[in-house]
Amino acid sequence: MSSIEPMNGTEWQEGVAYARGRFVAPAEAVIPIDDRAHQFGDGIYEVIRVIGGRPLLMDYHMERFETSANAIKLRLDRSMEELRQLVLEAISRSGYSDAQVYFQLSRGLARREHAFPNIPSHLSLTVRKMDDSAFDGVREHGLSMTWTDDIRWKLCYIKSLNLLPNVMAKQAALDAGYQDAILVRDGFVTECTSSNIAIVKGQTVYTHPANERVLHGVTRRFALKYLRDTGVEVREEMFTMEELMQADEVFTMSTITEFAPIVKVNGFDVGNKTKSKGSMLRQLQSAYQLQIKHI
Ligand SMILES: Cc1ncc(COP(=O)(O)O)c(C=O)c1O
Repeated sequence: MSSIEPMNGTEWQEGVAYARGRFVAPAEAVIPIDDRAHQFGDGIYEVIRVIGGRPLLMDYHMERFETSANAIKLRLDRSMEELRQLVLEAISRSGYSDAQVYFQLSRGLARREHAFPNIPSHLSLTVRKMDDSAFDGVREHGLSMTWTDDIRWKLCYIKSLNLLPNVMAKQAALDAGYQDAILVRDGFVTECTSSNIAIVKGQTVYTHPANERVLHGVTRRFALKYLRDTGVEVREEMFTMEELMQADEVFTMSTITEFAPIVKVNGFDVGNKTKSKGSMLRQLQSAYQLQIKHI
């Protein structure tokens, strides 16, 4: 077995990993140089939260994974049920109560040429322990954001491995002293670098339509269903930064941070009702905790 040197401590070597059809040690160097994910970013991925040993919103994740694969004409080479069983086995092997499952599917191992090779796709997966309490502060107190031009491609609903615009926007935000960036395309807010975004005006919740300009987040999907089921008016409509700055509430939605208030944009206070008792954000946070108890 060959292994690569740890970059930063040894935590990344822990957990469960699966690649090239078998469970392997996370540090084992099993991805060949000519894997198309490595050469072209030619593949898709998902991140699933595990709480109390059980995956959260797994059906939504599986559905999106299949949609992403079909959208880029990527062979699955296994049934969705087989994939689901593999994820469950990996979680069980890890023995972790709170964790993240990351899995990606690449177009496989082939000589570097742009055209699709007719070969099996390559699935890799890790299960890593997650300290959920690390996000308590952000969920409670909120985020200080900046905003930037959304320079991504036109198929953002695909959970593609190509995250360069997202990581660049995130790093630029951090370098400027903010926690993250809101992305704006053609004058309208789309989402953030790794979360969807919603605003509340009066009793109505607004979020960008689930079209090709945003990732169709599973947390967003959970939120919209919950809000509509409880009679809240939700409008999947575009909004501008000006509208965001004047909204009653502003918050993010994502698998890892769940629901987090946005409290400042470029140093200006926003969403002065977001953190109030009984706000939409607080209702969503409670609803999420409740569903965690029932999975
Ligand atoms: C660009 C982007 N938007 C939204 C989300 C939130 O999606 P989900 O709720 O499925 O985690 C993510 C999550 O990684 C993301 O990368």
